[in-house]
Amino acid sequence: MKRTKVVDALKALPQRGSGEGADICVKGWVRSKRGSKGIFFIALNDGSTIKNIQIVGDDAKFPEETVKRITTGACLCVEGKLVESPAAGQASEIQATAIEILGDCDNTYPLQKKGASWEYLRTVAHLRPRTNTFGAILRIRHNMAMAIHTYFHEHGYFYFHTPLITASDCEGAGNMFQVTTKNLYDLKKDEQGKILYNDDFFGEQTSLTVSGQLEGELGATALGAIYTFGPTFRAENSNTPRHLAEFWMIEPEVAFLDQEELMDLEEDFIKYCVRWALDNCKDDLEFLNKMIDKSLIERLEGVLKETFVRLPYTEGINILQEAVRNGKKFEFPCNWGDDLASEHERYLVEEHFKKPVIMTDYPRSFKSFYMKQNQETPDGGSVGYKGAVAPGPTMQGTDVLFPSIGEIIGGSVREESYDKLLAEVERREMDMTHLWWYLDTRKYGSCPHAGFGLGFERLILFVTGMQNIRDVIPFPRTPGNAQF
Ligand code: 4AD
Ligand code: MG
Repeated sequence: MKRTKVVDALKALPQRGSGEGADICVKGWVRSKRGSKGIFFIALNDGSTIKNIQIVGDDAKFPEETVKRITTGACLCVEGKLVESPAAGQASEIQATAIEILGDCDNTYPLQKKGASWEYLRTVAHLRPRTNTFGAILRIRHNMAMAIHTYFHEHGYFYFHTPLITASDCEGAGNMFQVTTKNLYDLKKDEQGKILYNDDFFGEQTSLTVSGQLEGELGATALGAIYTFGPTFRAENSNTPRHLAEFWMIEPEVAFLDQEELMDLEEDFIKYCVRWALDNCKDDLEFLNKMIDKSLIERLEGVLKETFVRLPYTEGINILQEAVRNGKKFEFPCNWGDDLASEHERYLVEEHFKKPVIMTDYPRSFKSFYMKQNQETPDGGSVGYKGAVAPGPTMQGTDVLFPSIGEIIGGSVREESYDKLLAEVERREMDMTHLWWYLDTRKYGSCPHAGFGLGFERLILFVTGMQNIRDVIPFPRTPGNAQF
């Protein structure tokens, strides 16, 4: 008999009044089994939905040996009749006529007990997708990927594939994983002791990309609007609940987009994704809302209603310093020119404005070389968004800060002037040998353009209400951990 997925079986009620239900075959894993008065009840799940289907069987009709082998975690093929269920909370159940054990599962199964800690589940990441919570998270993760592709496709963006192996460092932060085929114990060096890469696979030093942006800009300045969606790699030794060494990033890049339009895009895009989750992941969100975070759905709906605050960095610093004067304690300083720590971002979003904030016009000192420079004033300051004045040089970076997450998007308008970009590169003493092609875009028909990067896992954190980024990707990569 052809297999029916549980999600479909639960929708397909047998014909009422006929007394006999339709014949059906389901396959899946046993979540639980209990028995009473010669009848056994199995909760079977096949991953197609958070919901289990109930299998009811008569002990007397099955070999004792078979019934014994129906243990938590075992994989079954069940044939039977789909009937209306007398039990509360489920429309239908299956009265089993035949049960085949496809895979036994003994009592060493690591997911035996309910309520295992997140830390423990990470040690059994090969099996945790079979739990209710991880099933829900992974189905939502899939749905968010569909939302992202649909959004960009519907808005006329082209999916542009940027390389994962690269000879350049987009963010200039130097936290890249090297790619080599050389014997690391026998590297050739020049007289100064510098490693020679000329006989390495690519003939030069290469790494895994930290961002597809620079190549994305090449796409945008040809196709008009592109987006990337792929893995990125960062060797930052950040053991936090918000950082992974391998994470997925979505990077749209658009020609002729200015600062205001960039912020419109960031806001519209995130809201679209959140709405998609509410519309398409109802069962999983209701489960997470009940089990993980009682205010999850309310928070998701709340974001849709809010207009995001658009806040120049300088004003943000003023608000933080005012808070400090009023007794608020932060671990890190927040003077003009300091990079904001997540405690600062969260104060602005969660306590001060109580809604998402798009922060703009960051100091040049801690932002990347490619960002559009704001007009400087004779006294060394600058003029930015809506004429806001800053005491030092600023750039048109536009990051989105979210409740309970902090930075979810990092974006900017890009500097399109060849002279200004070159001056900035020289000011930073950057080696541009590997970025000559990037400068070319400013030489040949340069155009205003802008884009951003959304950390996919940070979006999933927000949408699921989970607390640790290691628990929203199937197999997390973090310092000291590359298992599975
Ligand atoms: O702010 P970032 O570093 O920006 C860029 O890489 C730009 N080149 C993007 C662009 O403009 N096209 O990273 C973008 C986003 C962050 O806002 C954050 O959501 C996520 O990527 N992110 C991380 N997520 C998980 N683990 C990490 N280690 C992350 N680092 C950044
Ligand atoms: Mg950033």
